[in-house]
Amino acid sequence: MCGIVGYTGKKQAQQFLLEGLAALEYRGYDSAGLEVLSPDGELHGVKCSGRVATLAERCKTANLVGTQGIAHTRWATHGAPTDRNAHPHLDCTGRIAIVHNGIIENFQEIRSYLRQHGHTIATDTDTEVIAHLIEDAWAGPAKGDLVAATRNALARLRGSWALAVECADAPGEIVVARQGSPVVVASTPDGAYAASDAMPLAGVTKHVISLEDGQLARLSADGSVQVYDADGLPNDHPMTLDIDFDASAATLGGYSDFMAKEISEQPEAIERLLKGRLTEHGIELDELSMTKEELASIDRVYLVACGTSYHVCLIARELIERWAKIQAVCEYASELNYKEPMITDHTLCVIVTQSGETADTLTAAKRMRAMGCKVFAITNVLGSTAARESDGTMYVQAGPEVCVASTKAYTAQIVAASLMTLRLAYANGSMDTGEIQRRYHDLEQLPDLIREVLSRRWQDKKVAKAFRKAHSALFLGRGVNSTTAYEGALKLKEISYLHAEAYPAGEMKHGPIALLEPGFPVVAIVPADHVHDKTVSNIQEVQARGAHCIAVATDGDVEVAQQCEDTLWIPPVPEEELVPVVAIVHLQMLARYVALERGCDVDKPRNLAKSVTVE
Ligand code: F6R
Repeated sequence: MCGIVGYTGKKQAQQFLLEGLAALEYRGYDSAGLEVLSPDGELHGVKCSGRVATLAERCKTANLVGTQGIAHTRWATHGAPTDRNAHPHLDCTGRIAIVHNGIIENFQEIRSYLRQHGHTIATDTDTEVIAHLIEDAWAGPAKGDLVAATRNALARLRGSWALAVECADAPGEIVVARQGSPVVVASTPDGAYAASDAMPLAGVTKHVISLEDGQLARLSADGSVQVYDADGLPNDHPMTLDIDFDASAATLGGYSDFMAKEISEQPEAIERLLKGRLTEHGIELDELSMTKEELASIDRVYLVACGTSYHVCLIARELIERWAKIQAVCEYASELNYKEPMITDHTLCVIVTQSGETADTLTAAKRMRAMGCKVFAITNVLGSTAARESDGTMYVQAGPEVCVASTKAYTAQIVAASLMTLRLAYANGSMDTGEIQRRYHDLEQLPDLIREVLSRRWQDKKVAKAFRKAHSALFLGRGVNSTTAYEGALKLKEISYLHAEAYPAGEMKHGPIALLEPGFPVVAIVPADHVHDKTVSNIQEVQARGAHCIAVATDGDVEVAQQCEDTLWIPPVPEEELVPVVAIVHLQMLARYVALERGCDVDKPRNLAKSVTVE
């Protein structure tokens, strides 16, 4: 939610600021803006509602010159996405500018205070108050020191922030601060950089400093960066991270959109994740950071996440219960935060979060830790907050996921959860080495099975036409594939804006069947598994109502093909628990084709943002 970038150095700032915003646009894209400090000693900016491309177009005529600036791409929380509410925000003098990602909870109270003290508030945002507080501090106790003025202002705030500040009277300096929202900074011979994540910086450096909560950093035009701890003392050993991907990983590389690219990257992502995991002693998973005894004693696993990552948890629950014989509980993070979890002395909490920054998931993890649980994170983003605030972290190494709708992180996270389950199963004796090896080799088949489904994308393209006149769709599946139905429906609705519901197939007759009418699209996931025949009965109920049934079925299943209008074929999968990893690839491609048919922007669906850093 919201992306920020900043630069001070030798080069003209505008180009990096616009490119940086484009790289962060997945975080929010309803408005954008930048503010550059010009050689005339004044701040000059451009901001507008709409995409970064619109901002870039406006910048062509604005001709902003200057080697220092800050910029922002917004996902609106306070105030509509208008030109006026777009960041950067200025103080009353127009000499201090700020960009912010997060939420200031006490902004109303501060706004009243500021108004009473003669400030003019120009926008509806929560952010603007910070610029005015810095204005007061700059003119008062902290004169001449932008770090001190920023710290002074932040002391009055409640909420979360990653922010960058510049002041026309402190040329060559940008101050960056973090509390609850991510921000990284980098020192290079050409200048110093700041960004919400490492993506915009992959082209300029291989190492970044990841600020921790309470820290501030002063970026200087000579390229140096000084980090300060919450107590204001310099910290000469801040947390550094190596950028684990190439700048080209976040480019389209010949694909028409990131969703297409990321769907097609799934086989390689899974191969990377599996590589080197099998040893003669079972699964290598040192990331769990637990002794064999601790692992063996786990008697309950809480799986916590949001959205697509929650669907990973639903599958992980099946795996943990079936393979490791441990009771598993799934909770939406946003729900768990207001419940009393039933933990035991040996409960493991697993959080699943692609971005590693989802506010609800982080709050849940903190709470579970405070209650005495070990917390293990499965995430895709190196050095993310989830990784820092957990006892152990497994990186799924899927590479940057730019499309807002998660695809490759989803399948990679399921495979990560499978490895974790095998580790638990070995530790508690539910599986012996031979069984572990057999399951691991089954996992190793997934990349080729996915490649096979990818080669059948023409089936999805053809089936997408069945959704042309649809106003809604129903997804059905049983057992572990009820989750495939949930995830398929989520993908369809988030990128095509077509309403879609998902149910365990057996539940259809308890209500959703009322939706069915001739032509109504029903997607039934009916692979060759132990509940196949039961799902076939549900397909017959769908057919009896004249609905348009699209099956996801295993090669050779003539019975299903004859009963359905369309079939999306998957090759046989060695374990039925692993079918979701293969079957979902069809539903990702189907959702994409339906969205394209409907003229939607598949990478940046309306109202969404990739990293949901507010609760
Ligand atoms: C849907 C999607 C979201 C995220 C959810 C959690 O395609 O991507 O539902 O899964 O916002 O995000 P993470 O995994 O970053 O915690």
